[in-house]
Amino acid sequence: MSELDRRAGQAAVSGDWTYAPAPESREIVRLAERYGHFIGGAWVEASETYETISPASEETLAVVGQGTAADVDRAVAAAREAFENGWSTLPGSERAKYLFRIARLLQERSREFAVLESLNGGKPIKESRDVDLPLAAAHFFYYAGWADKLEYAFPNRRPRPIGVAGQIIPWNFPLLMLAWKVAPALACGNTVVLKPAETTPLTALLFCDVLRQAELPPGVVNIVTGDGRTGAALVEHEGVDKIAFTGSTEVGKAIQRRLAGTGKRLTLELGGKAANIVFDDCALDQAIEGIVNGIYFNQGHVCCAGSRLLVQESIYEPLVEKLKRRLSTLRVGDPLDKNTDVGAINSRLQLQKIEELVASGREEGAEIYQPPCRLPERGYWFAPTVFTNVAQSYRIAQEEIFGPVLSVLTFRTPDEAIEKANNTPYGLSAGVWTEKGSRILWMAQRLRAGVVWANTYNRFDPASPFGGYKESGFGREGGLHGLEPYLDFDDSETRGG
Ligand code: NAI
Ligand code: MG
Repeated sequence: MSELDRRAGQAAVSGDWTYAPAPESREIVRLAERYGHFIGGAWVEASETYETISPASEETLAVVGQGTAADVDRAVAAAREAFENGWSTLPGSERAKYLFRIARLLQERSREFAVLESLNGGKPIKESRDVDLPLAAAHFFYYAGWADKLEYAFPNRRPRPIGVAGQIIPWNFPLLMLAWKVAPALACGNTVVLKPAETTPLTALLFCDVLRQAELPPGVVNIVTGDGRTGAALVEHEGVDKIAFTGSTEVGKAIQRRLAGTGKRLTLELGGKAANIVFDDCALDQAIEGIVNGIYFNQGHVCCAGSRLLVQESIYEPLVEKLKRRLSTLRVGDPLDKNTDVGAINSRLQLQKIEELVASGREEGAEIYQPPCRLPERGYWFAPTVFTNVAQSYRIAQEEIFGPVLSVLTFRTPDEAIEKANNTPYGLSAGVWTEKGSRILWMAQRLRAGVVWANTYNRFDPASPFGGYKESGFGREGGLHGLEPYLDFDDSETRGG
């Protein structure tokens, strides 16, 4: 009997202790039956529509617009007009006032937004309430602070807005990705046409109500909903000066090809396959929490998820044992239940992708572990999963799964850890767990990753730049760095980015 089993036998609380349901009320959210596009400060009827659902129950929540090229054209025209007739020449201190208002309104209405985010996207209310909403508001507060200080941020370079920014965002952090894109663009004096992801349009549409409350001038922010065709129309549009995209590497590459030679500026925030590296001198219990947070947070629908766990061989067995035990305490189910740790998979398509990759892991010879858990009958669900015995060549060690699936590999020396961690086409993030400060710095210098977390994981702050190397994209969001993609400078060599 292992030490852990012996201690479990003495636990004060018995293992089958269960939680009573603790659902957050949906009452606070008032959904319209249908939504159009938000263009020039007003709702414009959509000529084509589709139904947006809750992935936890498959119930229809509302009918929303499938934006056409004509809708995109109207939105770009509205953004251009707003740019030329006031917004771009408004003093930074005035732009800041609008951003501060938006930030405060998001705080005031955060419960409403959090409930809607969980309803439409499937993420646990605990996360939308404690992570997505506070961070989205913090982003607006942060960039509001820069709006009147651009000359100090970039001395002697005469920073100027670029024009109309086309922004395409994914479904994993719908409102937060909107905030990452809209806040710096507006702070710099640009106007925006934003397209939310097709599965999660509702918080972006509710955000339009916040824009009206904040009395943002019409046309400064326009929102056109729809799928990849709407996104492609935005990318193609000649009136757009810059595209900011977050999503799959596949679509990111297609956008880059499309924009080559057009002079349009581009930033891409794409996929990842991050290594979370655990050394034998780490604080093991804390590392376990970091591993769990790294891959099961938001059902693993996180571009910087710690999806490859690299464990130093000497602690492999106790670590895996503790990890499996911790997994069995994760509560999977109703996203609106305040005790839920792992919610619904965002869409049927994403569930199929996860299932396909997990099947490949089994076939290639990895060993699978899933804690016993009863998944709801309706909706899209996937149990937290750990693969051990994983070789670097397996698809589950190479490809982004974007689900609650962890692949465990081992290493002996720091050099070997670096080699394995960097053996991926991606380079978005990494984690290092060790008590030794000098080793953290040594590792951080060698890891080809935009963000390196030490003794923590998935920590975000608006002041800290975020972005990738290699196939994870280019350009930075957040911090001072996050202003640059939205500015032209006297010393800008070319308009092409
Ligand atoms: P996707 O890249 O197709 O979608 C992201 C956004 O791009 C959505 O708003 C979508 O409507 C839009 N889009 C799709 N095709 C487009 C096109 N041709 N031109 C312009 N915009 C377009 O990602 P998808 O299909 O939702 O997910 C597939 C995989 O991508 C996931 O399994 C995951 O591995 C990865 N992904 C990574 C994300 C990240 O944060 N890095 C976010 C979402 C997905
Ligand atoms: Mg796609």
